[in-house]
Amino acid sequence: MAEIVIVPDRAAAGALVAEEIAALVARRPDAVLGLATGSTPLPVYEALRARLSGADVSRVRGFALDEYVGLDPAHPESYRSVIAREVVEPLGLDPDRIRVPDGTLEGIEHHGADYEAAIAEAGGVDLQILGVGTDGHIGFNEPGSSFASRTRVKTLTAQTREDNARFFDSVDEVPMHCITQGLGTILDARHLVLLAFGEGKSEAVAGAVEGPVTSSLPGSAIQLHPHVTVVVDEAAASAL
Ligand code: GLP
Repeated sequence: MAEIVIVPDRAAAGALVAEEIAALVARRPDAVLGLATGSTPLPVYEALRARLSGADVSRVRGFALDEYVGLDPAHPESYRSVIAREVVEPLGLDPDRIRVPDGTLEGIEHHGADYEAAIAEAGGVDLQILGVGTDGHIGFNEPGSSFASRTRVKTLTAQTREDNARFFDSVDEVPMHCITQGLGTILDARHLVLLAFGEGKSEAVAGAVEGPVTSSLPGSAIQLHPHVTVVVDEAAASAL
């Protein structure tokens, strides 16, 4: 059973998770962090600025969950750019030790396996930060994704493209495909920390935490993991 923590607001969630991450890095200077994008994890990265300032982060490694396919890596909304801007630069991490799946088209058929090999070589992810989509997706594992899936190219659903259109000028600019860690990849992390805020996430949270374990709601895969922390505000907890 996941540990559920209900916090008053995003800042409190960020502070809580940042504290956990800072303790991990203090214990293990070469900790491997599983990084997420979207708006949900931003309070964590914000709180980490103060929490990690003065800490030796030179050996910290990180792997992002996912990336758009076919978007110029230099595009401000590529997850490579987002991770650089929100995580690597403000926290002073070594950019060579932080990876984002490669969504460039050339050699795309090998990028998933290469990414899996890199995670394995790093010894696996110690703490995986997760947001959740309104349809229950984690990473970009949309409904129907196999619980055994590994990093691979997927097609984005119309719903997710609409949800993410706010980061682009229009929905037409949102790529059609992505490369994402699989549910099997995510479940291999040693500790999963799923965050969600706002009423719009309440059904996805309830399904993930206490609904049937089903690929129709990919977030429900967390019920198969022995060490999960769910950090939500009152609104996101309202359907529990
Ligand atoms: C995107 C990301 C997910 C994220 C989800 C929720 O689709 N690939 O990793 O969890 O959006 O986004 P937000 O946190 O902005 O609500």
